[in-house]
Amino acid sequence: MNIVVTGGTDGIGLALVKNLLSLNHNVKMVGKDTKKAERILNSLNNSKLEFFRCDLSEKREINELIHKMNNLSSIDVLVNNAGAIFDKRELNSEGIEKTFALNHLSYLQLSLGLKKKLEDSKIGRIINISSNVHKNYDIDINDLQNEIKYTGWKAYCRSKLLNILITYSFKKELNTNINCNCLHPGFVNSNFGNNNKNFYRFLIRFVKNLFAISNEKASLSPLYIATSKNLNGVNGKYFDKLKEVKSSKVSYDNNLQKIIWQESLKYLQ
Ligand SMILES: NC(=O)c1ccc[n+]([C@@H]2O[C@H](COP(=O)([O-])OP(=O)(O)OC[C@H]3O[C@@H](n4cnc5c(N)ncnc54)[C@H](OP(=O)(O)O)[C@@H]3O)[C@@H](O)[C@H]2O)c1
Repeated sequence: MNIVVTGGTDGIGLALVKNLLSLNHNVKMVGKDTKKAERILNSLNNSKLEFFRCDLSEKREINELIHKMNNLSSIDVLVNNAGAIFDKRELNSEGIEKTFALNHLSYLQLSLGLKKKLEDSKIGRIINISSNVHKNYDIDINDLQNEIKYTGWKAYCRSKLLNILITYSFKKELNTNINCNCLHPGFVNSNFGNNNKNFYRFLIRFVKNLFAISNEKASLSPLYIATSKNLNGVNGKYFDKLKEVKSSKVSYDNNLQKIIWQESLKYLQ
């Protein structure tokens, strides 16, 4: 299969890339750090691996990525995995708050941009990497860009709820043959949070060293949901690692799903 993994250059995404290659899939690894990607390409030395550079917090760059990827022969699976937490509120070049842009809008923009390719595939799957922390905060539809009393944690938790809301909307809104599911990979000892400075970075590292599972173990969840025949036809589900479970009550709110879908589309125009 031809499988796109965003954030494939580190952490859970890189472990997933390695697993997919070991199963002989063609992997399109998306990340923003070219040097890091070159080191990976050199060390893995696998002709089935290709790198696409893109800053996924930038709509214009995602459009360029979509254009390039639509020239590929086929795409069977898209894993929207890239994500980050920002301890200080940051904006992209269009003035959009970065957690919202990267963790949420990029998932939707790429999914919509590759829709035709995925529909042409026999299996056509999208996997959105969310998190159990989506349960920590509700969405404020009047504050999607986290302007009010910003904290990185709140913005991050909300973005992971947005991942679930659009997962549940995808088939309903688009009447497509693509199946779209989301997951919590576990609490993982990846590089997550290391983009921040000082205390925030130290705190995340400290807690991860105590409690987190490895990237390799965490990647088994997206690996299963991306490739298992057991999940043929399964759509609109939330998995905790390998097990289908319920997400938060608010994530099933049809009205909220609709509002988020419509509001998010406005940002992609
Ligand atoms: N770690 C956890 O405990 C945990 C738990 C639940 C869910 N998750 C979710 O799992 C996903 C992966 O996280 P991780 O823990 O593996 O993090 P990570 O080790 O920090 O890796 C993040 C990946 O995202 C890419 N990325 C970040 N910003 C980007 C941007 N602007 N444009 C393009 N790519 C970008 C990075 O690429 P570059 O290095 O090239 O920038 C890297 O490949 C995230 O969606 C996260 O929310 C993580």
